[in-house]
Amino acid sequence: MSEINWDDLKLAAIAAMKNAYAPYSHFPVGAAALVNDGRVVSGCNVENASYGVGLCAECGLVSNLSMTGGGKLVAFYCVDGAENILMPCGRCRQLLFEHSAPGMLLQTVSGLKTIEEVLPDAFGPRDLLEGFGNEQRN
Ligand code: THU
Repeated sequence: MSEINWDDLKLAAIAAMKNAYAPYSHFPVGAAALVNDGRVVSGCNVENASYGVGLCAECGLVSNLSMTGGGKLVAFYCVDGAENILMPCGRCRQLLFEHSAPGMLLQTVSGLKTIEEVLPDAFGPRDLLEGFGNEQRN
């Protein structure tokens, strides 16, 4: 597994944030993540005149992940327009969970946390496995 360089991830998130298209909220967001093969993927929010269909930065990030070869996310950093750490919204925690390695780390407003801590008892791919529906986990 690649070493996590949080400074590089923060810089990648800031660079992504500068590409945000946020004419409605005026709230640019940038997200960056380290992939288990060492790549860094990133995304920015892209809003829409039909407000509800705007895309969060994390949407772009997971699209970037697939487009550049897939893999699992191991570390994540998200910033707002002031370059401060931003918590991924609930929907985006679900998006990230799907593509995260177990124990993926996030820099959060309350320190370093795992994806499992910010999305407890998450619904995920394994819940769709046949015969797993009603069994208790672990
Ligand atoms: N936003 C993100 O891009 N990611 C999040 O996790 C939180 C919210 C965006 C959506 C919208 O364009 C703007 O921030 C204000 O909600």
